[in-house]
Amino acid sequence: MATPIPATLIPGDGIGPEIVDATLAALNALGAPFVWDRQIAGLEGVTVAGDPLPAATLASIRQTRLALKGPLETPSGGGYRSSNVRLREEFQLYANLRPALTVVPGGRFDKIDLVVVRENLEGLYIGHEHFVQIDDDPHAVAMATGINTRAGSRRLLEFAFQHAVATGRKKVTIVHKANIMKALTGIFLETGLELYERKYKGQFTLDTVIIDACAMKLVLNPWQFDVLVTTNLFGDILSDLVAGLVGGLGMAPGANIGADAAIFEAVHGSAPDIAGQDKANPTALLLASAMMLDHVQLPEMATKLRRAIHDTLNVDMVRTGDLGGTAGTKAFTAALVSRINAG
Ligand code: NAI
Repeated sequence: MATPIPATLIPGDGIGPEIVDATLAALNALGAPFVWDRQIAGLEGVTVAGDPLPAATLASIRQTRLALKGPLETPSGGGYRSSNVRLREEFQLYANLRPALTVVPGGRFDKIDLVVVRENLEGLYIGHEHFVQIDDDPHAVAMATGINTRAGSRRLLEFAFQHAVATGRKKVTIVHKANIMKALTGIFLETGLELYERKYKGQFTLDTVIIDACAMKLVLNPWQFDVLVTTNLFGDILSDLVAGLVGGLGMAPGANIGADAAIFEAVHGSAPDIAGQDKANPTALLLASAMMLDHVQLPEMATKLRRAIHDTLNVDMVRTGDLGGTAGTKAFTAALVSRINAG
């Protein structure tokens, strides 16, 4: 019997509770030793506790340093600040790891296996934004400040390079826009090149590419990439792009990793258009929980879960609507649990 591992569980908004239930069913069938402390955030946090990130939720993660999180709703434009961004800041979750691996073959792109490592705390996401009024238009001018630091860039690049070495990756590509944003993204490129020369040369190949060219290359020939490492905004966009290469957001897991904690989640949002309808594909969160098992040094359980997901989708052919199937979330979960119990 494995040692119990305390972890915070945030079911989240929209389809969150449905995909979290599916993931808990799979983890229970595997015998994963997590001891969950259930907490709230996002819209549920506002409705129940008057705060999108209640103090009790923060206190729980401060204690467990480990969380599995459903998607949290954030209003666009006005309203409260993203709880996801606040969580990353609070626990200094500086690295966002988003693997894109083909699980369902035969899609538009086959045999994809790449990883986007996104800087999670700096750049244009720091929230230094304001409007300037001119005459009677209060929103006449919009301004934003981006900040990238040498130290922040270095720790993220170090994380990406170490991840490449630890997982046997052959190539790392630094994605930037240093031809135009010479300071803001130039510092990231310069730091990466320097770190590679000093510490990692010979362990993998290092390449650099400008973000716009990278977007085109990912669509024309994604197989040329292995690990992509980039700043916050570019990483956010690229990780959705690579999710599209492997069958959409329902297949894309993510990990937010920092010195103080690690939070695992699906890349997708709360999907309010299908919430409560038994239509959500839980695979992204299931794959995130496999990353969580790897993180707590239970790689055999992680492999067993990934294999069961693969077999449910490709041998039993049980798939949700986003993958062209007819199964609901509950039927998919039941098939997955049977697979886990059988194998
Ligand atoms: P979304 O990812 O929720 O949905 C985009 C489209 O993908 C929708 O048509 C949805 O039905 C579909 N989809 C997403 N996940 C799916 C799944 N597991 N199975 C089947 N179909 C799925 O993006 P949207 O609509 O832009 O955002 C909705 C809310 O989620 C917003 O409040 C946004 O701020 C929040 N959000 C939260 C994130 C997080 O907590 N990590 C990440 C992205 C968005």
